[in-house]
Amino acid sequence: MIDRETVDKILNAVDIVDVVSDFVHLRRRGANYIGLCPFHNEKTPSFSVSRSKGICKCFSCGKGGSAVNFIMEHEQMSYYEALKYLAKKYHIEIKERELTDKEKQEQSERENMLVINEFAMKQFEDNMYNTDEGRNIGLSYFYERGFNDSIIKKFHLGYSMDSSTALYDAIKKHGFNPHFAIETGLCIHNERGYYDRFKGRVMFPVLNIAGKVIAFGGRTLKKEDRAKYVNSPESIIYKKSNELYGLYQAKRGIVNKDKCFLVEGYTDVLSMHQAGIDNVVASSGTSLTEGQIRMIHRFTDNITVLYDGDAAGIKASLRGIDMLLAEGLNVKVLLLPDGDDPDSFAKKHSATEFQDYISAHETDFIRFKTTILLEGLEDDPIKRAAAISDIVKSISVIPSNITRAVYTKECSDKFGIEEKVLVSEVAKAIRKAKSTKEQQNKPEPQEPDKAENTILNAAVTKTPNTKQSPAEKILQPFEHEVARYIAKYGMYEFCDAYDNSGNNKTMTVIEYINTELENDSMTFSFPEFKAIYDKTLSLISEYHTEKEKKEEELADMKKQLEAEGIEHIRNTVDNIDGIQREEAALYDKIDKQIASELTSFQSSFLERRLCSDENDIVRNTAIELVTEKEQLSKIHTKFSSITPESERLNELIPTAILGWKDAILTSGIRKIQEQMKEAAKAGDLQRVQELLATQNSLKSLQQQFAKLLGDRVIIP
Ligand code: CTP
Ligand code: MN
Repeated sequence: MIDRETVDKILNAVDIVDVVSDFVHLRRRGANYIGLCPFHNEKTPSFSVSRSKGICKCFSCGKGGSAVNFIMEHEQMSYYEALKYLAKKYHIEIKERELTDKEKQEQSERENMLVINEFAMKQFEDNMYNTDEGRNIGLSYFYERGFNDSIIKKFHLGYSMDSSTALYDAIKKHGFNPHFAIETGLCIHNERGYYDRFKGRVMFPVLNIAGKVIAFGGRTLKKEDRAKYVNSPESIIYKKSNELYGLYQAKRGIVNKDKCFLVEGYTDVLSMHQAGIDNVVASSGTSLTEGQIRMIHRFTDNITVLYDGDAAGIKASLRGIDMLLAEGLNVKVLLLPDGDDPDSFAKKHSATEFQDYISAHETDFIRFKTTILLEGLEDDPIKRAAAISDIVKSISVIPSNITRAVYTKECSDKFGIEEKVLVSEVAKAIRKAKSTKEQQNKPEPQEPDKAENTILNAAVTKTPNTKQSPAEKILQPFEHEVARYIAKYGMYEFCDAYDNSGNNKTMTVIEYINTELENDSMTFSFPEFKAIYDKTLSLISEYHTEKEKKEEELADMKKQLEAEGIEHIRNTVDNIDGIQREEAALYDKIDKQIASELTSFQSSFLERRLCSDENDIVRNTAIELVTEKEQLSKIHTKFSSITPESERLNELIPTAILGWKDAILTSGIRKIQEQMKEAAKAGDLQRVQELLATQNSLKSLQQQFAKLLGDRVIIP
């Protein structure tokens, strides 16, 4: 762990223009810099870098973010790796946080396990190339299957000697503690003693994304063996559901080609690499997990699943693909000829033939599924209907509205069903999925009502916090707007206030918003906005410390500038009037310079912190929020003047909060009306009366808001 102070030091030292310039040729344009986007192919530059914001963004593909994001994305690093990279660039010594005893123990356990795995991998490779048994059995097996030395080396394939304790003995001989060999599963311990798990097998090491050996798969070479593959058990370094075979060797290729092939087995990965297709990973024979999908999604939006052509198998695995769609990936499938898997297909064809086959046969998944499911059902309306609703279900999980609409249109053409009908079926499927999900996510326990008497509070807390119930969806633009003010202007000085002891103090934007929300016991219902709010609150005290430091620095700077300036005046001006005039001008100029330094600190501190935060949600939401254009016309039609937003915060922020409260009331009223309908249906007149009374008080409160809001147009 890098300690907090060092992280801050790194983030403060970083100059985004400098960081990006190591990879992209930048030219100045206005206040920003611009260059060719490194994340996609383009001929005209749309990658823009703002030094003052510390942010870069491609206006064409949308990639970018803070310097940390840029390095994570460009160098395929984790958050901490990226920080270390930046620390090195800026010659900042990394202070690692002192680990707790438990962490230390786990870390040393983990490290020891990785070391022993690395040793075993080398041992297996050495066996295969440097022993007779290894060459005659292991290496010749791989050669017979058509793998060349370069692939064998790239994937560190090896051979485990056909003796019960060869590896165990080597481990002991090298002074390793056998405990770790048991933990990683390389060796097994039982009443008969220690012996090797992978005896007599050819070995496929499984590397994690950083290239560390976390597990092995061992393939038998004997017909009589029941298990074709034996794999390492799960351990603290190997969580099977989070790993993909070949990802380490494929990640560059995936990024460069902006696409990932997904196959089943170890040998499929090897054969495709050998055929020149290096952007390929294997799920290792099990169905994909969400963790694996996310991992692919870090590198690309596009995935092509390779199927061997047996119809039953395909139908069984269609369902799993909905998970890929739901993650927002663009899914294609490639059907191989009957009886072939990618490995056997590659062996029968040249690399070029394989690649040509892919381009010619890759099909969009929804289209593929439609064809498969509808095949032979022309005359069976009932089965046809079932198939169509199955496809509707797949379409409904796609997150992008536009993509969904495109598919809906296409399927309506294909099925000869009116588009309207399909659209409403898709909408129904979405609602249904949502309501099952809501039932699964039990409502969170409600906070004790600390302001039970405020009606507003009643309107908010009477409903569980399920993110997108239709009534609460109307809150989104309001929460979004307030969150944006927080991210962009959170530490700006906002107004004067009195603290508990009656002292005058300046309130920042975040402090003002916090007070407002607390007074009405409200908070953000969308987790991404809540995350921004909470993070900003937690940065307040650090901000004040940093600001004091900055002020001291500026005071020193001021003194020095003044001394230098006065010295200069004394040396160059020789009459007293002139000296006085020049001195006044000098002080004025210095004051302005200092003030502007302070303002720029105030505006950049929070943005930089949020946009480089460790938490993905905080970081990505912040980047979205601060790079958003000021949307003058959308919410504040009345105020669409040309004065910049930052100078109108005093009117904008209170209005935004008021608008939000108003929306909460509207959503509360809607809910009450629904309840009223139900009570009426059930004939519970007393309940109807009660609800009516609550509704009326909400409405009258809303009327007061309306006055405050003036003729502001609210667009939900
Ligand atoms: N697998 C496994 N354990 C098994 C069988 C299979 O872990 N007993 C996993 C392996 O990761 C394997 C993948 O499932 O690579 C696909 O299985 P299969 O197609 O049977 O193996 P291939 O990789 O094709 O191996 P080979 O070509 O050598 O038969
Ligand atoms: Mn195979």
